[in-house]
Amino acid sequence: RSLRGGDVAELRLDPAELLRKVPFFEDTPAEEFDKAAAKLRQRTLSAGEAIISQGDRGNTLYLIARGVVRVSRTVNGEEHNLATLMAGDFFGEMSLIDDEPRSAHVIAMENSNLLVLLRDDFQRCLEDNPRMALGLLRALTKRLRLADSKIGGLVLLDVTGRVARLLLEMADENDGVVISRKVTHHQIAQMIGSSRETVSRTMRTLAEENLIEVAGKTITVRDREAMESTAGLR
Ligand code: CMP
Repeated sequence: RSLRGGDVAELRLDPAELLRKVPFFEDTPAEEFDKAAAKLRQRTLSAGEAIISQGDRGNTLYLIARGVVRVSRTVNGEEHNLATLMAGDFFGEMSLIDDEPRSAHVIAMENSNLLVLLRDDFQRCLEDNPRMALGLLRALTKRLRLADSKIGGLVLLDVTGRVARLLLEMADENDGVVISRKVTHHQIAQMIGSSRETVSRTMRTLAEENLIEVAGKTITVRDREAMESTAGLR
C-alpha cells in the first residue's frame, strides 16, 4: 500500500527495527548489528523521486525499509527496467564495491523509507563482520542468477517465450496466478526488448489459446503448464 504524501516525511522509525527487515543482516551478531544500526541515516522519498542516476559517482548504500523502487538503465537513449526492489532489498552497493560510476538509475515508485549507509561505514561493517559479507555475497549471487536467467531468456527465446516468461515472473510476485502489477504493453515491450505492436499481438495469441486471460487491466495465468513450456522452463 502506498503511503499518502506527507505521511512519508513524518515516519521516523527505529533503525534497528528497520534493519531487521534486511536479509543480509540476518546472521549478524547482536553487537555488530547494533553498531551498524547506529550508523544508519534515514531518508524518505516521494513517489517518482530519483535517488540514483546512472553514471554519477556514489558514496552511499541504500536499504529499503518500506516502499518500492525501480532500477533502470538508459541504452541508446531509451530507458529499460532491470529490476523492481522492495522492503528488505538494498541498492547502491556496486559503486561502493568497485568504485566505478553508478551502473543504473534508481527511482522511487511509491513513497519510500530508506536507510542510508556511507561508504566507510559499509566497508567497516563488512571487514568487521564476515557473516554480513557472506549475506551480501548471497544476495548478489541471487541477483546474478536472475540476470543470467534473463539474458538466457532474451537470447534463446522468441518474443512469445519472452512474454510468457515475464508474465510468469510477474505472476510469481503475487500468487502465481494473477498479475497484480499494472503494466502496459509498451512497458512489457521495453522489458523484453520488443515493440508494443508485437507484444499486443503476442498477448492476444496467448489469450486466444487460453494460456492467459485478460480482463480489463488484470492479467491471469490460466494454463501454467503451457506457459512454462512456452517460456522454456519445462
Ligand atoms: P550502483 O551501481 O552503485 O547504483 C545503481 C544500483 O542499482 C546498483 O548499484 C545496484 O544496487 C542496483 N542494480 C543494478 N543492476 C541491478 C539488477 N540487475 N538487479 C537489481 N539491482 C540492480
